Amino acid sequence: MIEERVGTYSSGFGNEFASEAITGALPVGQNSPQHVPLGLYAEGISGTPFTAPRAENRRTWLYRQRPSADHRAYRRIDAKGLRSGPFTEVPPSPNRMRWDPLPLPSEPTDFIDGLHTMAGNGDPALHVGIAIHHYAVNRSMHGRAFFNADAEMLFVPEHGGLLIVTELGRLTLHPGEIAVVPRGIRFRVEVLDGTARGYVCENYGALLRLPELGPIGSNGLANARDFLTPVAAFEDAEPTEIVQKFAGGLWSTQLDRSPFDVVAWHGNYVPYKYDLARFHVIGTVSFDHPDPSIFTVLTSPSATPGTANLDFVIFPPRWLVAEHTFRPPWFHRNVMNEYMGLIEGSYDAKAGGFVPGGASLHNCHSAHGPDVASYEQAVAAELKPHKIENSLAFMLETCYVLAPTAFALATPSLQTDYDACWNGFTAAFP
Ligand SMILES: [Fe+2]
Repeated sequence: MIEERVGTYSSGFGNEFASEAITGALPVGQNSPQHVPLGLYAEGISGTPFTAPRAENRRTWLYRQRPSADHRAYRRIDAKGLRSGPFTEVPPSPNRMRWDPLPLPSEPTDFIDGLHTMAGNGDPALHVGIAIHHYAVNRSMHGRAFFNADAEMLFVPEHGGLLIVTELGRLTLHPGEIAVVPRGIRFRVEVLDGTARGYVCENYGALLRLPELGPIGSNGLANARDFLTPVAAFEDAEPTEIVQKFAGGLWSTQLDRSPFDVVAWHGNYVPYKYDLARFHVIGTVSFDHPDPSIFTVLTSPSATPGTANLDFVIFPPRWLVAEHTFRPPWFHRNVMNEYMGLIEGSYDAKAGGFVPGGASLHNCHSAHGPDVASYEQAVAAELKPHKIENSLAFMLETCYVLAPTAFALATPSLQTDYDACWNGFTAAFP
């Protein structure tokens, strides 16, 4: 039953979905009947307070074989490479930083053990900020499930496919796609291609949503219909360790059954995935660039209007046609804090040194932009229509300063000569 449902999805963003793996399992007309079909247990899970405005309100009803409440006490376990806000290991740095990809592990390493936190801000206890992790894994999670009470988790794979088994169903994820697993939803990550590497952003703040479109109109950027949510699927009971992240730490308990026993569910608090190739890219057809916010896929607003706790922004394949314009990203010093990664190819502001699986950090008001080689190439270029192809970079942009972790500063993947890419610009005049 499960296998035939792999790759089966419902479409839409924030919809009221309904799904049942066995016909008739879903109660009709009410959420919590005295007798649930098939003897299942009704369980609610909320992603927003009960009183959140209707447009932002998220909750789902699960109909499962045993209630989640049936478990023993959790005990604290070693978080290994995982760190959490508040990020105080090392002082935040104004210096620009760049990393090569983390090496794939040589020891058996599953998704939980393969997370390495690079930077973050805020505090999960306050539901403010983000944490940025890289993962490098070579084992599926066996008899192990995870959930995150601190954050929703945005997956950005760079190498290797994943199967993410969630309480609400199964989704496959390959480089070029992203997925979001909501706060509190149990999941297991399986490796489809032997090894896998990529990025995970924990969003402690308001739930990710589609950005407003303003004058763009009713279509464009990431269209709601292209987001996919799995359908209900459950599996046979097997003893499972549940690991949860709570207030920064990892906690474990052992179940004598699988937490993936949800036979039916309905609601709008759901995992989802999105193919970044579906992003409807908008750019100039005259001169100069729009601000890169035009590339926002998902946003988590802060309490300040127009100011993001987290923007997930991509730089996908697109045509460059601007006349009398410097076409790569301009030099800039921004108030927002930028963490970039590369999924495929090369990035048009960096001729070298920024490779798939790598990353860069440019904090508030650090000066950056194209490197010398990219600048010289751009000013010498004949401005014909040009298509950027086979390139997919992304940015995690946040209004709060990103503090690197001690690991990020100690790993051999940290490039020690990053500043040098901006050395050698000649003065405009003596
Ligand atoms: Fe930037």
